[in-house]
Amino acid sequence: MNRRYFLNYSAITAAYLFTGCEERTDTDERKPQQPASASPAAVTPPKAEEKLPEKITPFTQKLKIPAEVNYAQLKKAAFTAQKSQVNIFPGAQTEVLTFQGDLPNPTIRIKKGEVFDLDFMNNLADPTIIHWHGLIVPEEMDGHPKDAIATGEMKSYHYPVEQSAGTFWYHTHPHGRTGEEIYRGLAGFYLIEDEEEKQLNLPEGEFELPLMIQDKRFDEKRQLRYKDPKVPQDNNGLLGDVILVNATPFPYHEVKSGKYRLRILNASSVRTYKLAFDTIGEFALIGTDAGLLEEPLTVQSVVLSVAERVDIIVDFKDKAPGDKVTLKTLGFKEGSNLTLHPDYPAFDAPMDIMQFHVTEKIQDTQVVPEKLIPIPRMQASDAVNTRTVTMEIIAGGIWTLDQKPYDMHRVDQKVKLGTTEIWEIKNSVHMAHPFHIHGVRFQVLERDGKIAFPTDKGWKDTVIVMPFETVRIIMHFTMPGLFVYHCHILEHEDQAMMANLLVE
Ligand code: C2O
Ligand code: CU
Ligand code: CU
Repeated sequence: MNRRYFLNYSAITAAYLFTGCEERTDTDERKPQQPASASPAAVTPPKAEEKLPEKITPFTQKLKIPAEVNYAQLKKAAFTAQKSQVNIFPGAQTEVLTFQGDLPNPTIRIKKGEVFDLDFMNNLADPTIIHWHGLIVPEEMDGHPKDAIATGEMKSYHYPVEQSAGTFWYHTHPHGRTGEEIYRGLAGFYLIEDEEEKQLNLPEGEFELPLMIQDKRFDEKRQLRYKDPKVPQDNNGLLGDVILVNATPFPYHEVKSGKYRLRILNASSVRTYKLAFDTIGEFALIGTDAGLLEEPLTVQSVVLSVAERVDIIVDFKDKAPGDKVTLKTLGFKEGSNLTLHPDYPAFDAPMDIMQFHVTEKIQDTQVVPEKLIPIPRMQASDAVNTRTVTMEIIAGGIWTLDQKPYDMHRVDQKVKLGTTEIWEIKNSVHMAHPFHIHGVRFQVLERDGKIAFPTDKGWKDTVIVMPFETVRIIMHFTMPGLFVYHCHILEHEDQAMMANLLVE
C-alpha cells in the first residue's frame, strides 16, 4: 500500500525536500516502540474516520499562547501529568501528555521573593518527577530522577524563588524516559521576574511572547511517532520534520510594527537551531538561560541548542501591514555531520519555523535600554578546584560522561558547598552536545573552538560544547544536595550521558 505522507508541502526549504518524503510506503507503518514498562503514551487511533488534508500548509495556524499560572494572583497551583487528546491540527485529535489537560502547558510566572507552591499528581503509567530547569532549589524540590513518584502518587513542591529574572522552564525528568515525556508534551515555561528587570521597561503584555520550539514527527492520523525501531540512529537524537511553536505546527502570529520581546526555548530532542529572521537583518540579544545580559548585543542570528533559552528583542518598525517575517533556522552544520534518520530533515537542515504577520502600523515609543543588569564576573583565580568532564561514546554506542553510564545512586563528583570551581567540559566526539547542570548557574570562561557564541556572555545553565571542543565554565555552589549534570540531548541523557554531583 502506498500512502501519501501528509507533510509533503512544497513551501519548505530545499534541504527539507532533499530528504525526500514525497511517498512513503508500508515500511513506514511502524508500531510504536514498546518499552519494557508500560508506555505512558501508547498511540491510540482517533475514534472516527476523519478526512484529514494530505498536506499542511505552513503559517496557516495561529500561534497558541500558553495560559499563565501567575503567583502574584494565585498562591498555589496543581499539575497532573496525564494523557490528553488535544487539537494540534484542525480536525484532528492528537494524543499527548499534559499537566493540565491541554497544550501548550501553562507558563509559570513568579516574582523573585515569592514562594512557589504546587501539588503534582502522577497519572502516567510510569514513575515521573518534575524538574524546574535552571532553578536553584533544594535537592528534594529539584526533581532528581531518584525522586520520581509512582503512578497515582502526589508530590508537593514548596520553595522560595530567590534568583533574579530570567526565562526558565520545567519538564519531567524520570530516568530513561525524559526524552519521550518531553516529546509527548511534558514541558512548559517558568518565568521569574524581579524589580531590576521591571525598571528596564522591556516590552510586555502582547509584546512579550514565550516561544517553545520543538521538532516532531506525526503519522497520517496526526499521532506522534517517537523513536523508529528500524532506525537505530534515533537513539542518537530524534529529528522531526514538523516544527511546533507552543504546540502549534509552523504557526503565524499577528504583530504590530513595534518591538517584541521573544523568550525562545529549544525544547527539542536533539535539533540545534541557528535562529534568524528572513527580512529583518538584526535583532537584540538581551538575555540567556539564567538571566539578562549586561547590555543588549546586536546579532544577525543566534544558536540555540537543546534546553538553552534566549531572550531577544526584534523590531518590526520598518514593516507595513501585510508584511510577513519568517523566523527560521539557518541550519547548523558545524554542530554535527551525523546522518540520523534518512526520512527527516537532517540536524543541519535549514527550516522555516514560524511567521509574523504585520497587521498594524504603530508609533512605537519603546526603547531598548543601553544597559541591562550588572553581571558580577567570577574570576578563574576564585576557583579552588578544576575538574574535567568528558563527553564520550563507549562500546555499544552508548553516550556517557567520563565513560561511565549513569548510575542514579553513584556520586561522581563531590564539591564543597560555598566554593567556586572551574569545570572543563571536553567533547571527544564529532557531534555538539549541550552540557547542563542542576542546582547552580555558571559563566563561560572560554572555549577553544572556532565559533564564538554571544550567549556565552550571560548567565548559563546549559552550554553547547562543539565537536572536539573544550569549554571552561566557572560556578559558585550555594545549594547543598545531590544534583545531576548531563547532556541535554534528550536521547543522550536517557541513555547514560548523565552523572551525579554532591554539594556538601
Ligand atoms: Cu532540563 Cu536535568 O534538565
Ligand atoms: Cu535542569
Ligand atoms: Cu549528548
